[in-house]
Amino acid sequence: MADYARLLEAANEARRNSYCPYSGFAVGAALLTTDGTVYTGVNVENASYGATNCAERTAVFKAVADGKRKGDFVAIAISGGPKDGSPVPCPPCGICRQVLSEFTDAATFTVLWVTEITDGDMAFEKHTLAELLPGAFEL
Ligand code: THU
Repeated sequence: MADYARLLEAANEARRNSYCPYSGFAVGAALLTTDGTVYTGVNVENASYGATNCAERTAVFKAVADGKRKGDFVAIAISGGPKDGSPVPCPPCGICRQVLSEFTDAATFTVLWVTEITDGDMAFEKHTLAELLPGAFEL
């Protein structure tokens, strides 16, 4: 529980660096690995819209670029909402769920997202990846 709180805080902090001039929806993610490293990510939008990268994938790609692989990932926390506004529930999109499934054991990997912050108290939802992406595609 304490670890979740720290990870959710990291995701919420990361939101500040979101690059979202087109949607105005700022997302931060914090990905925990087995060695205790936390990789943060933000959504990085693009004028062509379709080239946008979600916060969750940014965090995964940073970790993979740092040498992390399947077996190294414990949990990801997500915080999203209007830039300069309070978080609203931001479950990961389908593409991010598929990317997470490439590098995790879906039965045990934990996905958390902030639902609201009231008086500094962070409420969140928690699921396994298998609950969010049953029947994931694999080769
Ligand atoms: N977005 C994320 O970063 N993660 C999600 O799981 C959902 C959507 C971003 C993409 C885009 O920059 C903005 O939120 C609005 O869709």
